[in-house]
Amino acid sequence: MPPNAVITGWGMYAPPRIMTNDELATMVETSDEWIVSRTGIRERRIAGPDETTTSLSVNAARDALAVAGVDAADLDLVIVATCSPDYPLPATSVTVATALGATRAAGFDLQAACSGFLYGLATGNSFIRSGMYRNVLVIGVEILSRFLNWKDRNTCVLFGDGAGAVLLQASEQPGGLIGFNLFSDGTGYEGIIVPAGGSVCPASPQTSADGLHFIQMAGREVYKYATRQLADSALAALGDAGIGVGEVDQFVFHQANLRIIENVERQLDIPPEKVYVNIEKYGNTSAASVPMALVEAVAAGQIKPGDRVLMVAFGAGYTAGAAVLEWTAEPARAFLAPGEQTRLGRPRLAEPELVAAG
Ligand code: ACO
Repeated sequence: MPPNAVITGWGMYAPPRIMTNDELATMVETSDEWIVSRTGIRERRIAGPDETTTSLSVNAARDALAVAGVDAADLDLVIVATCSPDYPLPATSVTVATALGATRAAGFDLQAACSGFLYGLATGNSFIRSGMYRNVLVIGVEILSRFLNWKDRNTCVLFGDGAGAVLLQASEQPGGLIGFNLFSDGTGYEGIIVPAGGSVCPASPQTSADGLHFIQMAGREVYKYATRQLADSALAALGDAGIGVGEVDQFVFHQANLRIIENVERQLDIPPEKVYVNIEKYGNTSAASVPMALVEAVAAGQIKPGDRVLMVAFGAGYTAGAAVLEWTAEPARAFLAPGEQTRLGRPRLAEPELVAAG
């Protein structure tokens, strides 16, 4: 029997600098009322000038390793899922591994936009089930604030910075990752795009002057795609795991827009109390959003050993990914984390609070 891949360590990091909707309203023509009512976002975190994609990753990863009680030197592989790496090359995973002291680990970056962490989990799971590796660190991280046009209200109000990490370990016990679905459809490649800086449109003074290194997005098209694909991917992963929606204890959706999450709740008849939401604090942190929400859901007591967790994300490409997990770790191990954020989740704002504020 191939080993199972179980999560034994988890960690997250969000930069301390908070940018509220009111602060954004001083920069572009928008309002707290518009942003809260259309997206559920109240504030987001912005990486400081001395922070990098590597440093955010390392903070989250150190917590994950401490929670698992595993030494970085024992890691076999570090996967960093991001679309905002430190550099186009080399891979961020390599500098992360070195900073952690993961001296014998292989490392590579993985780009599937906001679905990247789910692709990372599927990849780590495959390395473990094949028998090639036993200790795989999967990190979802973004500093999208550096890829935003702060004069474009269609995009700059939506995104934020952060990192989440899990340690996957081989286990002969039941549980861990039990179902997956990965999806891509390149017909939607222009829906969310950074047009310049790649081989199609190399960086030049003109691309810089035209602001083509920033994220551009067709919001309404993305919204339609997201609501359809999240439901499809969720059902496909549940089918792979051989369980139904009613057998899931906790849903962790990509935190892109509260309305998208609520739309999927209605489509799949999911009780809102089973859905962990933290978008009000962080906005859309892309590849970091699912692992950050997972870590907070554990800290908030929403995920316990034996619980089945469904994680689902969609992103640029288009891409989508979903994973079903049977949680096996003792949540109190979070207290071993050196960073506070891993152990201090704050549950979703009550609905009346959102309405009153919106
Ligand atoms: N503040 C105020 N008004 C705004 C803002 C803003 N920040 N942004 C747009 N508006 C205006 C528009 O100009 C428009 O005005 P008009 O009617 O005069 O033309 C009006 O508000 C309505 O705009 P819509 O685009 O229809 O607003 P909608 O309700 O669709 O919400 C939103 C926009 C929030 C972007 C939504 O479409 C959405 O969430 N889409 C999905 C985005 C997403 O999830 N992206 C994920 C990317 S994943 C990744 O891989 C990076």
